[in-house]
Amino acid sequence: MKYRPFGKTDFMVSALGFGAMRLPVLDGDYSKIDEDRAIEMLRFAMDSGINYIDTAYVYHGGNSEVVVGKALKGGYREKVKIATKLPVWDVNNLDDADRILDEQLKRLDTGYIDFYLLHALNKNHWKKLKQIDIFKWVEKAISDGRIKYIGFSFHDDLDTFKEIVDSYKWTFCQIQYNILNRNYQAGEEGLKYAASKGLAVVIMEPLLGGRLAKEPPREIKELWDKAAVKRTPVEWALAWLWNQKEVSVVLSGMSTLEQVKENIKYAEKYEVGSLTAEELDLVERVAQKYNELRRVNCTECKYCMPCPQGIDIPWNFSIYNQASMYNMFEEMKNDYLKKEKERAENCVECGVCETKCPQNLPIRQLLKEVAAYFSK
Ligand SMILES: NC(=O)c1ccc[n+]([C@@H]2O[C@H](COP(=O)([O-])OP(=O)(O)OC[C@H]3O[C@@H](n4cnc5c(N)ncnc54)[C@H](OP(=O)(O)O)[C@@H]3O)[C@@H](O)[C@H]2O)c1
Repeated sequence: MKYRPFGKTDFMVSALGFGAMRLPVLDGDYSKIDEDRAIEMLRFAMDSGINYIDTAYVYHGGNSEVVVGKALKGGYREKVKIATKLPVWDVNNLDDADRILDEQLKRLDTGYIDFYLLHALNKNHWKKLKQIDIFKWVEKAISDGRIKYIGFSFHDDLDTFKEIVDSYKWTFCQIQYNILNRNYQAGEEGLKYAASKGLAVVIMEPLLGGRLAKEPPREIKELWDKAAVKRTPVEWALAWLWNQKEVSVVLSGMSTLEQVKENIKYAEKYEVGSLTAEELDLVERVAQKYNELRRVNCTECKYCMPCPQGIDIPWNFSIYNQASMYNMFEEMKNDYLKKEKERAENCVECGVCETKCPQNLPIRQLLKEVAAYFSK
């Protein structure tokens, strides 16, 4: 495993971190983690040198923290740093924050959180947190030892990101960043900005929630085939991140042991300067081509769910993108028609989903588009 500096701290973080948001589940139920498999994966990762595990209060319906806590038994806790997050949308006063943090410590069965994040900051959350004087609480939680370092994860525009970076003595931040998101949300400029201010930068969604790991469309494959050194799309995407000195750790939400093994293999191989100028140019051309083919920038994080009407929002966007990107209109239309209750045309435009989408997607408008597309 290769290690990289974590901002201004003296901690050297593994190049690959474990994102515990996409653990294997039973019966297709997101809240029912397959504990044996998940613990095996987490321990394999830690035994291979991964020393940063990222979870959150809300992942897997609250069970991610519990399973991570179980995986850390037997001496593992001392070997790794835990990052977890305060669900700021549920915090309306400082007592809420206190209660939730104490619950997280119980779930994780630990006395302290190494890296604590204010989860999914955006303009609205940020405004509310300032109003309730959240840093008074943060400082108390740090001084009583429950939190070691404070950071935030982010989903909004670049200006908001810079404002937040400049507003507090953060140790780290977490941004969505990958070969297709160079100019999206914080993006490359935000990455460099935060790093220049001494923050460690943690990368989430390096494979765009798994989309970059899928069999690429013909146009993309033809581009990758031009490379002198052949790599899988996952390898290209991760190598591109590790090639950048401002990146501290790349989180991957691995869902199988094979993925853990594969990504560890890549993490042992790449570092700053591993890719040539020609290779970086090729990645740029691939990104351009993908962007020409993609219709909705949904990462399938499922934050928008459940929909009160029972619409499976990420699924609608997924088949819409796939139909467009893979030239599979007929197959996807068949899938769409099979799921009578879950399809886009049932949207009543209540807008609940839009208040929860970290990407701030205009979901109602997009669902209309999907319905029109598949009615052709
Ligand atoms: N703070 C926030 O707002 C926020 C938001 C999102 C994520 N996060 C954190 O960041 C972490 C990373 O984000 P992410 O989970 O979206 O990461 P990601 O790497 O973009 O996507 C993970 C998915 O990629 C696929 N994958 C990973 N390695 C693969 C491999 N070697 N071969 C084939 N497929 C592979 C898997 O898809 P399949 O399962 O389909 O096989 C996996 O579920 C999360 O787990 C979470 O801890 C935080």
